[in-house]
Amino acid sequence: MVVEMHAGLASDGGSKLKMLLTFVDALPNGNEEGIYYSIDLGGTNFRVLRVEVGAGSVIINQKVEHQPIPEELTKGTTEDLFNFVALALKSFLEREDDQDVKRALGFTFSFPVRQNSVSSGSLIRWTKGFSIEDTVGKDVAQCLNDALARCGLNVRVTALVNDTVGTLALGHYYDEDTVAAVIIGSGTNACYIERTDAIIKCQGLLTNSGGMVSYFFCFICSQYDFFMKCLCEEKELWCSKCSIHQVVNMEWGNFWSSHLPRTLYDISLDDETQNRNDQGFEKMISGMYLGEIARLVLHRMAQESDVFGDAADSLSNPFILSTPFLAAIREDDSPDLSEVRRVLQEHLKIPDAPLKTRRLVVKVCDIVTRRAARLAAAGIVGILKKLGRDGSGGVASTSSSSGGRARGQQPRRTVVAIEGGLYQGYPVLREYLDEALVEILGEEVARSVTLRVTEDGSGIGAALLAAVHSSNSQQQVP
Ligand code: GLC
Repeated sequence: MVVEMHAGLASDGGSKLKMLLTFVDALPNGNEEGIYYSIDLGGTNFRVLRVEVGAGSVIINQKVEHQPIPEELTKGTTEDLFNFVALALKSFLEREDDQDVKRALGFTFSFPVRQNSVSSGSLIRWTKGFSIEDTVGKDVAQCLNDALARCGLNVRVTALVNDTVGTLALGHYYDEDTVAAVIIGSGTNACYIERTDAIIKCQGLLTNSGGMVSYFFCFICSQYDFFMKCLCEEKELWCSKCSIHQVVNMEWGNFWSSHLPRTLYDISLDDETQNRNDQGFEKMISGMYLGEIARLVLHRMAQESDVFGDAADSLSNPFILSTPFLAAIREDDSPDLSEVRRVLQEHLKIPDAPLKTRRLVVKVCDIVTRRAARLAAAGIVGILKKLGRDGSGGVASTSSSSGGRARGQQPRRTVVAIEGGLYQGYPVLREYLDEALVEILGEEVARSVTLRVTEDGSGIGAALLAAVHSSNSQQQVP
């Protein structure tokens, strides 16, 4: 993971880990005040949020409305999807009686985006089962702004962020030791705070077409200088004095390595998906896929043995065992595994599976869960290692003060903000993840690492980032 992080930071396309720039070089610090809105469009759910903040890291009020995204919209047209989102915001604002006021809007868009600025960026490709061809390559903030204008709303996107970045923002708002964020939900991903000078791909002097050094105004301090960070053409530019850190969206769901324990079932699963050969790590970890991996294993068992008798036809239906059922099976601790029996009967149409078979089904769900949790833990340790916070005593790569420790020193407190339906709703997965962190880091270092759940963090954090980027109360990422 660390090797791939370096490669992804060195050049675009240098690794399957995209290590995307977010242009977020300031995080909420508690000085934000006012009412902000955000829209959170990601996996299975869609949320509209209103957040009222007061000075001193106080969220005075928050309102969150959840709505499922109709399946057909995930495969339809760009306009239909964004109209749906804009109309949901409109009806929310009408109920708030707030539609006439110009407000800053945070837009959490949980897909890989190549950002041009903190408030714009184009979709690289869809993940998590979405496939709307004509959105790829488009500026998604502009798509939303257009839809908002069509609805007659006086609101524009001020901050376009990935869900990991929103989660990091809320985590950091509450606790300044938060240096990374992880999502384990329908999909999985992570972001962290990186030193700008470690992001090799955005460094260097800008040269114009004639090969001459170009001079620019820094968009933060307005100084005229030539020693700018090059963030590719037509993008906002800042001088090295103004930008020390930046949040990097790893898109770790696409991580791949020959070291990953890929099985026949992973290969079959990949073949069933619309994004074959992509998101390999995500397909071993996240909620969209775990149930299906277990289903593939059970199907093979049904084909090669008589453990399920004659009634296992349903096991040949892709995605019939969704991850919430896998979790229900694994969490069943009743002596006769009655919940397992219920899931097998009602959802898989396998009546009367004997206790021995039910135990076998639990075991399969356990193995799939444990592998996912351990891979996610390994990913988190990869980030800690890159930041010099894994206790190995290596040199810090993010800042001289945040790094590895000299022998005998206490490990530095590190907080990783975490959220996602799978992580929050599945205690066994959380236990396995914690267990693996202790196993890899050792007890002392693992104790210095806190995984902090930020409920609705991706959306609330986006509203806070809208606040940061619509005012002058910016705080440099420490
Ligand atoms: C997918 C998306 C990524 C998102 C993650 C979690 O991996 O590509 O952008 O952060 O899901 O929702």
